[in-house]
Amino acid sequence: MTVLAIVSDIHSNIEALEAVIKDAESEGVEMFRCLGDVIGYGPNPIECVDVAREKFDFTLLGNHEEAVLFGAIGFNPKAKMAIDWTREQFHIERDTSDVRNDRWQFLGELPLSVEDGNVQFVHGSPRDPTREYVFPTDVLNPDKLQGIFGHVDHITFNGHTHAPGVMTEEGMFRLPQDLKNEYVIDEEKIICNVGSVGQPRDGDNRASYAIFDGEKIRFRRVQYNVEKVMARMSRIDRLPEYLALRLKEGR
Ligand SMILES: [Fe+2]
Repeated sequence: MTVLAIVSDIHSNIEALEAVIKDAESEGVEMFRCLGDVIGYGPNPIECVDVAREKFDFTLLGNHEEAVLFGAIGFNPKAKMAIDWTREQFHIERDTSDVRNDRWQFLGELPLSVEDGNVQFVHGSPRDPTREYVFPTDVLNPDKLQGIFGHVDHITFNGHTHAPGVMTEEGMFRLPQDLKNEYVIDEEKIICNVGSVGQPRDGDNRASYAIFDGEKIRFRRVQYNVEKVMARMSRIDRLPEYLALRLKEGR
């Protein structure tokens, strides 16, 4: 099987994305698939979308793409401010109108989910692809667990929470560090969260993604120049300061 890099939640962080691509290619990755939230929060939405258009096999619709396209419903005022700034970047006349139209069209045509045999790819959750969160603590909620796993055939890859790990149907959430960063596929149904490239929230500020070769999943963390991204964000008034600070903390 093709060796896949599965990336998610890039959030306009081109420095993190470039570091991940470099790492993945040095690890033998042949194809990139993206689970959404290419944009939102960070300073380089256009650059990240252009990488997605040119390099990724597919990109799913994340809730941040949805918010840029259709309005920031359910976002807090500061997150909404970042969404409004992001949307404007797609309309600034710095490229030809053809290029701008192609980008906007790309966002408008992103799929909600993709199935590849018994492997499914979603942004948030198998039963509500774009918006529902599957949190590690949901293993304590049997009803939710059952509801979600009812939509899993064998393996589902997701993102959205920015917290990597493997959730099993039996109600375990196994952190990458507990798995020594490797999960070998067996009969068990799992939901594998690949973490976030551009805004990790598990206390580790390195970019997170996963490599999948059909037999095992490997969790990867990649260092990138966080300070450079923070400095770029500090020059953009409409990207609230806490968004830069959380990159440093990985929270
Ligand atoms: Fe996200």
